[in-house]
Amino acid sequence: MNINIAIIGGGLMGREITSAFARWCALTDVPVTPVLKAVADLNPETLSWFKRIPTVTQMVSDYHEILANPEIDVVYVAVPHHLHEKIYIDVLRAGKDLLAEKPFGIDLAAAQNIVNVVNETGRFVRCSSEMPFFPGGQRAFELARSGQIGRILEVVSGFHHSSDLDPTKPANWKRLNATCGQGGVLNDLGMHACHLPIRLGWKPKKLYAQLQKGYTTRPDGKGEGGTITCDTWDNALIHGWSDINGQETPVRLEMKRLQPGATNTWFIEILATDGGVRFSTADPKALYLFERGKEQFWKRTDLGFATPFKTVTGGIFEPGFPDVIQQMWAAYLLERQGLLENRFGCATPQEALESHQVFAAALESHDGNCVVTL
Ligand SMILES: NC(=O)c1ccc[n+]([C@@H]2O[C@H](COP(=O)([O-])OP(=O)(O)OC[C@H]3O[C@@H](n4cnc5c(N)ncnc54)[C@H](O)[C@@H]3O)[C@@H](O)[C@H]2O)c1
Repeated sequence: MNINIAIIGGGLMGREITSAFARWCALTDVPVTPVLKAVADLNPETLSWFKRIPTVTQMVSDYHEILANPEIDVVYVAVPHHLHEKIYIDVLRAGKDLLAEKPFGIDLAAAQNIVNVVNETGRFVRCSSEMPFFPGGQRAFELARSGQIGRILEVVSGFHHSSDLDPTKPANWKRLNATCGQGGVLNDLGMHACHLPIRLGWKPKKLYAQLQKGYTTRPDGKGEGGTITCDTWDNALIHGWSDINGQETPVRLEMKRLQPGATNTWFIEILATDGGVRFSTADPKALYLFERGKEQFWKRTDLGFATPFKTVTGGIFEPGFPDVIQQMWAAYLLERQGLLENRFGCATPQEALESHQVFAAALESHDGNCVVTL
């Protein structure tokens, strides 16, 4: 079955999703196929890249034109954060289903407005968060919910980048509160850190946050010595307490643009009395499991390509970012058709809203230098 897709925002992520669709033949057990039909972007150069995709029949600067196209079933929106609320709501009111990029709106109020329209229109909506589709992420999730690792002592979930350590890196919209949001890095990377803890029911009940800024000015990228003032939070540490099986448990969420050496590193660590698990995309095949017997062990295994949706790729090969983006889309399209069964689904609007509750509390905590109860 073919599902016609439109993309609003053909930048970094719009193109990534396009390449995932273009090699859909890799998936062996997904009876739903996305067909990219339409793209909207303000930048004509960005739009012209999509000429290489033969199925694209509509390339426009005004996204309302693709919302008026009756052929389109699902819209993927990947634009700067200050546009999320308006465009997501326009998509829903046009009667289309939506895969929304994170964050779900620029702040908590925007997220709540979007959720209200999701409920009112009844459209099928999910929020982008692909990292848990790594085989190691799936194993960590399965182990955590198995109840077989004893009392959970501590959870750390995070997402790290390092490229902002380079002062010559030009500013873009992600470095400005006006377009990225007051949450800054919370908006940018927070959904990645929150997804599994929230899915497991471990949203912090109270938290203390430390937020930091990096360089306050950056080159404007025009090559003539001009600079732009950057005002976003760049690193965030959230020290939360969650109720896990009736025990108050530390859950730390880390989002950083300034983590020496890290390139798109998503990780999760769950430590418990009878077991534990560590996974990081810095070492994408490796899964570390803790075992407590007479002696205590950390065991390492190479998982290979054990993705939730099966592919032609050999089981010994390494998964990467393009693979988990494709896995996330497989989950989205299958769940939309009622075919997900018991496999891992994409982040729901409610989960995205809850992530914004965490970000809002983190901003309040840092501002008041206090613990905030959610
Ligand atoms: N899931 C992930 O891992 C991941 C990674 C990076 C970015 N993102 C998210 O994806 C979204 C886009 O980020 P990006 O890195 O692709 O940004 P980008 O700047 O590369 O692309 C944004 C595109 O939106 C276009 N645009 C702006 N206003 C528009 C409008 N009114 N109509 C149509 N197009 C418009 C721009 O011209 C640009 O091409 C953000 O929400 C970001 O947080 C997600």
